[in-house]
Amino acid sequence: MTQKIKTVIGTDVNLAAQLLQQNEVVAIPTETVYGLAANALSEEAVQKIFTIKQRPRSNPLIIHLPSWQSAAPYVQYIQDELIALATHFSPGPLTLLLPKTAAVPEVVNDGRPTVAVRVPNHPLTLQLLQTVGFPLAAPSANLFGYISPTQPDHVYKQLGGTIPYILDGGPCAQGIESTVAGFEDGQVVIYRLGAISFEAIEAVIKKAVLKNKGSNTVAPGMLPYHYSPVTPLYLVNNSTAILQKGIEGAGFIGFDQYHPQLKKENQILLSPAGNMQEAAANLYKAMHQMDDLKLQVLYAQRLPNQGLGQSINDRLHKAAAKTNGAF
Ligand code: TXA
Ligand code: MG
Repeated sequence: MTQKIKTVIGTDVNLAAQLLQQNEVVAIPTETVYGLAANALSEEAVQKIFTIKQRPRSNPLIIHLPSWQSAAPYVQYIQDELIALATHFSPGPLTLLLPKTAAVPEVVNDGRPTVAVRVPNHPLTLQLLQTVGFPLAAPSANLFGYISPTQPDHVYKQLGGTIPYILDGGPCAQGIESTVAGFEDGQVVIYRLGAISFEAIEAVIKKAVLKNKGSNTVAPGMLPYHYSPVTPLYLVNNSTAILQKGIEGAGFIGFDQYHPQLKKENQILLSPAGNMQEAAANLYKAMHQMDDLKLQVLYAQRLPNQGLGQSINDRLHKAAAKTNGAF
């Protein structure tokens, strides 16, 4: 790539805004994960995101706005049930796929008829969006395929030397990407499960949603592997399964209980109290920490498959896909 540049981590919203106005790429905090942001209306700026992240241009980006009202120039309309969701979860970890207007450059969504829109719930980023006055295109601020970042040092580890600024908003409160929803054949469809569970969506619209059945609108998602640590990762239902596979040089990401036979320093619990929300917030941090230990193999325990547990299991499953997942 190009020459290395100095990457500064700080809390200066005005500096971040200036850089974005100059078509630079800046990492920004959200309540889900850190984003790699650029002016969505500038083809030159958006192109830099794909280059820095090493992501194929065919994988479309989400545009971030300070309110759903400010989405008006970029979307043709919003279906009533999606308005109900936007109203309920705004600002928050909900991304809507909506029919786009000509104001959205093709580079953002690879020329698709829809654009993904989200109003993130983080005070610094909301202030930044108000200041710049244009939408920010932003994928998660990780290298393509690697673990998403939930704190500034995760971004620095992967992208230090390639971007000028990381806006430090502390650790991400939700810790897992937004839920991506749209509307097809008269029904709400979930393309990517995330920080809002199926159950929470259904409670708002008061009917069943369609879980992504692989419609051709969709790239969301979702490549077979994603969110992956470098260390081979296997999923297990419970800690006894590991014994069959061997515990030499092994690390364990558990839900609420340590594995009795593994060294404590090679283990992380997502939530000792058994709380799904806490587990989601700790998931990527745990994967980063375990990967940094450079062990031979990692095991991660599946969570109960309900509520946010389903979203966490989806990410674990994709993180484990390189090893063929479970055994
Ligand atoms: O929580 C989040 O959503 C984070 C923060 C930074 O906002 N962003 C994020 O972006 O996760 P990214 O690019 O890592 O994931 C966005 C997903 C991708 O899988 C992409 O394929 C899908 O949304 N997507 C975006 N626009 C789309 C479109 N027009 N049609 C179909 N899928 C789309
Ligand atoms: Mg991502």
